[in-house]
Amino acid sequence: MQIQLESKPFSSISTDALVTYIFDRENKLEGVGGEIDRAMNGRLASLVESGELTGKALELVLVHFPAGLGAQRLLLVGAGKRDKFETADLRKIAGTALRYLKSHGVKKFVFVTQEGERGPNAAQAVVEGLIAADFESNKYHTEKKPNREIQSVSLANFDAGLGANLTAAIEHGRVLAESQNFARDLINEPSNRLTPSILATRAEAMAKEAGLSVEILDERKISDLKMGALLGVAQGSVEPPRVIVLRYTPENARPGGPVLGLVGKAVTFDTGGISIKPADNMEKMKYDMGGGATMLGAMRALAALKPAVPVIAVIPATENMPGGRAQKPGDVQVAMSGKTIEIINTDAEGRLILADGICYARKLGCTHLIDAATLTGAIQVALANVHVGAFGTPREYLDQFLESAKAAGEKMWPMPMDDEYQEMIKSNIADIRNTGTGKGGGAITAAWFIKEFAEDTPWIHLDIAATCWVDEGRPWLAKGPTGVAIRSIVDFALKL
Ligand code: BES
Ligand code: MN
Ligand code: ZN
Repeated sequence: MQIQLESKPFSSISTDALVTYIFDRENKLEGVGGEIDRAMNGRLASLVESGELTGKALELVLVHFPAGLGAQRLLLVGAGKRDKFETADLRKIAGTALRYLKSHGVKKFVFVTQEGERGPNAAQAVVEGLIAADFESNKYHTEKKPNREIQSVSLANFDAGLGANLTAAIEHGRVLAESQNFARDLINEPSNRLTPSILATRAEAMAKEAGLSVEILDERKISDLKMGALLGVAQGSVEPPRVIVLRYTPENARPGGPVLGLVGKAVTFDTGGISIKPADNMEKMKYDMGGGATMLGAMRALAALKPAVPVIAVIPATENMPGGRAQKPGDVQVAMSGKTIEIINTDAEGRLILADGICYARKLGCTHLIDAATLTGAIQVALANVHVGAFGTPREYLDQFLESAKAAGEKMWPMPMDDEYQEMIKSNIADIRNTGTGKGGGAITAAWFIKEFAEDTPWIHLDIAATCWVDEGRPWLAKGPTGVAIRSIVDFALKL
């Protein structure tokens, strides 16, 4: 899909569709709306009067052969109340328009922004919305829906005086959204087509293309490093584990400066192990590598956007299977850090592999950490599929991250890390146990388990179990993998 700026007056442009948005219940059509109304001899105002066009959020009104305009169609998207409007809404509006027009066979359209949104931030958001909305998971359908391709989108009414800033913003948005789609492709893959070793190969190919250095640790190297927590999870599967290590090194890295570590959970299939999961919905556990895919997506974007800090991604990858050699409840494993872990539930495997991933990232010199994982069902209970659960210590470090999430337009909510929760993972026979005692707080005890390995290194943990995948499509995004958290992580790295 081509995206370019268009400087011609939008009412005269000949295109498949002209798209703009209208605010909720504004009786006067101003700005772009007013201009279109004048070109159409007041016909837009009559649509408003008739009550068909209200501007309610994401309402869609399509006008065919709009008299007075050069376009074949005019698509009006509701923008909701003007005083509540944010850049994030622009992403949704652009995405909704793309998905609607694509499903109606449109090939080219022009997106016109309103007066308040003519700068680089708006351009970036529109591009992100368009490219993320263009993603569809149809790889394994042998019959593709015909005639569905948006070839080109022009962005009109942007402030031409900002020239190079606008083109840079468009490029920035493209890199982010394409990296998000790269991750979504991986998350979609079934586990028979994306084993830990295949994931490593895919990561290697991406790294070569993006110009990142890459190292894949195989089971021998993993044993040499004594990653006992990861090996404990992996021992039940015939598929050998991998640890994927990607490095981005800036040209003039400041010696002694911060090094950001990105650790992602990549369980390519989670059966639960001996503490086996029920059959209902188990097929979803192919997306239990979503945290790893998130970090691969973030690295792909960072390679192009070139932050000033070095970034190292560490992605432990394994299956979690039952079997004659699988670890069992009650087993004690020794993590790479030397801490001993009592395995209470083999289905709490994500925190185990993250423990060794985090330990290794610190050993490689990371001074700041972010982990992402489809870690707990409990985060769905706490936040539904609306917010990512964001944990972290110290609190200021988490707050700094939440600023980036806000800037990236991704909903995240801070979760507590009080000491009382740490008490709940004390074990009678080892240093810690892999599930909390007592009832409730499952997402928090899981986070505390990981913190035991991050120790005092500034650390953020993103529980994306409920947000990495959506069962129902949204007007601006297909159902399936979302690619959530990549934009926030990249924004954070660029500002660190
Ligand atoms: N991968 C799951 C968490 C999950 C659940 C991800 C639903 C996506 C959707 C994780 O490994 C897991 O099984 N967690 C357990 C932990 C429990 C045994 C303490 C859970 O949340 O039930
Ligand atoms: Mn599990
Ligand atoms: Zn899992």
